[in-house]
Order: sequence, then structure tokens, then C-alpha cells
Amino acid sequence: MKSKNFSVLGLDKFIHQSLYDKKDGYYMSSNPFGKKGDFITSPNISIFFSEILAVWIVSFWETLKKPKKFNLIEIGAGNGEMINTILKTLKNFPSAEKACRIFILEKSPYLKKMQKKKIKNKNVVWINNLNKLKSSPCIFLANEFFDALPIKQFVKKKNLWFERKIKIYKGRNPEFIDIKVSIKKIEKLVGINVSKNQNFLEISKDMIDIFKLISKKIRKYNGGLLIIDYGYSDIKMKNTLRGIKRHKIVNFISNYKKCDITHSLSFEFLKKIGLLNKLKVSGMTSQGSFLKKMGILERAEIVSKNLSFMEKSNIYYRLNKLVDKKFMGEVFKVLLLTNKKINFKLGFETD
Ligand SMILES: C[S@@+](CC[C@H](N)C(=O)[O-])C[C@H]1O[C@@H](n2cnc3c(N)ncnc32)[C@H](O)[C@@H]1O
Repeated sequence: MKSKNFSVLGLDKFIHQSLYDKKDGYYMSSNPFGKKGDFITSPNISIFFSEILAVWIVSFWETLKKPKKFNLIEIGAGNGEMINTILKTLKNFPSAEKACRIFILEKSPYLKKMQKKKIKNKNVVWINNLNKLKSSPCIFLANEFFDALPIKQFVKKKNLWFERKIKIYKGRNPEFIDIKVSIKKIEKLVGINVSKNQNFLEISKDMIDIFKLISKKIRKYNGGLLIIDYGYSDIKMKNTLRGIKRHKIVNFISNYKKCDITHSLSFEFLKKIGLLNKLKVSGMTSQGSFLKKMGILERAEIVSKNLSFMEKSNIYYRLNKLVDKKFMGEVFKVLLLTNKKINFKLGFETD
């Protein structure tokens, strides 16, 4: 919609331009990771995170009855730290390592370059779409991937639904504008009655599309998708969209192309999308619980046995960030969606 003084842009389009504009989008032109960057992800906090994931992958492969070949796919690999450590750890499990074909699906050419520099493993293949995967069981890993996808927001006011968009003026700061929509049409696109008992919705078309492709592979070739991300398990969806710069929340409109734009995932919604795509919800827990069940504390104890006090403190300081409820232990959730015939609960066992 256009007039003389302003134009209106869908929130998803605004986020997409801000993060993924080919020339100067946030993820296309800078390295946002680390203490000196804008945010830090679990694999960049402690090496144990990715080591634990490697052990989990080997166990899943064993549950799949140790196929001679399987695809391990990281979606959105950031600076490559996670898959790099996973690959190093797999060396301790030679049969699994031999069976493993590694793929990275990465949108940003800038980050792809960084990944290629870091990962000195000839078996890694970078792909632009999932059709490139070989016909073997697939294990997909998505750490802080889905929260980086553009979303649309919908708000209910006096029983009517509105789409929240951005009004861009000439020579004035942009602002939000709510425009009436038919929520039934949106629900038809999503495939589920998502507005029932809700007053606010955050929906990513990109997420729905990629879920379809991943699910198709899992249904056809067997395997699963492990999602680790910032999110909540309340039934009601909420407004969680925010900009992040230098580890702080900022206004993402005035920091256009200069900050990360992220949202917290509704894990109830993710589960529904998984079920819609005929996957099984094999496990759902918090990051702290998952890592502890996988033995991250015991691993730290073994490694730190003969280290100096300072080195030990550093290990436990980092570990605490991952597992403590005050930090990432509770607000980060882990969801495992699998082929219906899989029976695998490692890391998700209830006490
Ligand atoms: C927040 S980072 C997470 C990085 C990494 N997984 C980690 O834990 O450090 C999101 C990553 O997803 C990538 N990405 C975003 N949209 C994508 C898409 N549609 N396909 C592939 N990669 C995408 C970004 O370029 C970035 O590498």
C-alpha cells in the first residue's frame, strides 16, 4: 500500500530486509557472535554444549540401528563453532563418524565464509536447499535458528484481528500500524486453527515452509529434528519481538540493519506444526535439564580434575550460564520431533 507521504511494510518484510538484505543486512555483513559482538550462543559459551550434542547424536544413530550412512544437518550454523566441535568429538566414535555425512544449510554468504575458514573438514557440504540431501536417515540440528526467522504479528482488539505492520514516512521515524485482516485466511495458510483462545499471534511463514521440507525428509528417510531455542511453553502466545545489540534489548526500528531481531518461540505452536507435518513429539524439556540428563556436570568434573583453580572456575562459570535457571537453563527449551516409529528419549527422561 502506498501514498504520497508514507508506505506500509509487513513486519516480516521489514525484519527480512534488516537481517538478510543481500548488500548490508545484519547477518549478511557482520559477525554478531561473542562477547565483543551483540549476543552469545551456547556453543560459544562452553565447548561442553556441542560435545554433549555429539554424544546425543551418536546415541540417536544407534537407535536408528546404526545405518551405514546418515545425514547430519545443521540449519543456520552461525560462526560454525557448534558443528566444528561436534565433528571433533565424533572422532571418539569412529563407526558413527564414518557413517556421518555433514551438511550445513546457511543463508548468509558472510557467515558461510567464516564457517569454511573454521571447519577444516573435507566431509562438510554446504547446501542452499534440502533437496541436496542424500537418501539416508536425517538428524537435523537447529540451535537458535528459528528465532532468527522473520515473523508476522497479529493482534486481537474487540474481537477483530489486525496485522501489525510498519508505516514508513518520508523524513520521519517509522511507526507501527495495525491493519484489519481476515484471520481465517491466515489460518488457512498456516494449516491450523491458530487463533483459538489467543489475543496475540507471532507467525513465521519461513518457519512453516522449512518445517514442511524437514518433515518430508524425516518421514521419508527416518530421523528427527532437535530444536534448541529461547522460548516459552505457555498456551497463550505473546509479543516477544525485540532487537538485540551489545547484549541489550534495543529498538529494532531505529537500529535498522544494525541489530539482531529476534523473538521467543512458542513451543506449543512448534509442537502443533510438528504434529501437522505428521511428526512425533519425542521430547520437550528445558536446556538445563537436557544438558544435565546428558551428563554435562559429570563431564566438567572429569575434565577439570587436574586443572588449576582459575581454569576450574572458568569451566564452571560457563557451565552455569548454560544450565542455571537464572541464565539459559530454563528460558532455553529443547524439543525433539521425530519420525513416528522412533522411540528415543535420551535427555528427555522424566524423573
Ligand atoms: C542466531 S544464529 C545461530 C547460530 C548458531 N546455530 C549458533 O548456535 O551459534 C542464526 C543463523 O541462522 C542463519 N539463517 C537465518 N535464516 C536462514 C535460512 N532461511 N536458511 C539458512 N540459514 C539461515 C543465520 O545466517 C545464522 O547463521
